[in-house]
Amino acid sequence: MLQDFLKMRGVSAGTLQKLLSSAFEMKRRILSGDKFSDELKGKMVATLFYENSTRTRTSFEDACKYLGATVASLDVAASSVQKGESLIDTAKTIEAMGTDAIVIRHSVSGAPRLVADNVDIPVINAGDGLHAHPTQALLDLFTLVERFGKVDGLTVAIIGDIKHSRVARSNMESLTTMGAKVKVFAPPTMLPLGIEKMKCTVCETIEDAFVGSDAVMGLRIQLERQQVGLFPSYGEYTSFFGITDARMKLANKGAVVLHPGPVNRGVELAYDVLDKEYCLKDVQVTNGVATRMALLKELLGGGQ
Ligand code: CP
Repeated sequence: MLQDFLKMRGVSAGTLQKLLSSAFEMKRRILSGDKFSDELKGKMVATLFYENSTRTRTSFEDACKYLGATVASLDVAASSVQKGESLIDTAKTIEAMGTDAIVIRHSVSGAPRLVADNVDIPVINAGDGLHAHPTQALLDLFTLVERFGKVDGLTVAIIGDIKHSRVARSNMESLTTMGAKVKVFAPPTMLPLGIEKMKCTVCETIEDAFVGSDAVMGLRIQLERQQVGLFPSYGEYTSFFGITDARMKLANKGAVVLHPGPVNRGVELAYDVLDKEYCLKDVQVTNGVATRMALLKELLGGGQ
């Protein structure tokens, strides 16, 4: 049984399969409109977002409400963090209030691990620095299984700012655990040192990334994590590295586009891709609620 959910590395195929199965039931409920239950009635979940978020924070909060749990959202900007209270003291304070789980996003890699080592309640990583975003990878996995039936045997291309992407790192782990092949393509300035040791192959050309792929994942250009400009202009980025409808024609029949969001429209995803049926970015958002419901139920509901 899971104690925390801090990263994808080390999460077994069996655990992922169990979470996916539960998420299918949650998705069914969401689509049926009968989405409220009392499975986690009496539980209190705290969300601590030290970085901005729309999708992850709101979907965790929706997931709690749909399962009958109560949510306390710490407003970090108005909290005692601003008076210098440490991360550990903040987490211990929240635990002392009777909170049953902490969902945390932080700009520092390893911050959720530090919290988990200092509290006795489950901790969920909602994204830490460049390290991991495991619930994004879980929803991406669910989206692919929902579309293709399974990911075993699929080829997934991840294109863009691999160096600064916790989404790419977590997806490489979960996709390969479930039997997919991952390839990446990026401007040389956006490939991390040691890429050859990661669970992916590096494409030489943009065409190589599309040919033979069943899914193509774009990544947001993360201006906030770049110390220097890593490409000359948005226009040049799009022409050399953008996901366009013309390039999607090189991919396998039925191939889909994924993007974790937020999207820089017309940059990572060309305008002619955004409105296509094969672009699943909005489906991913719905699936984020279903998969986070499944995860919360697993961590707080005794794994039933
Ligand atoms: N994909 C993702 O993490 O989006 P948010 O930053 O809006 O949570």
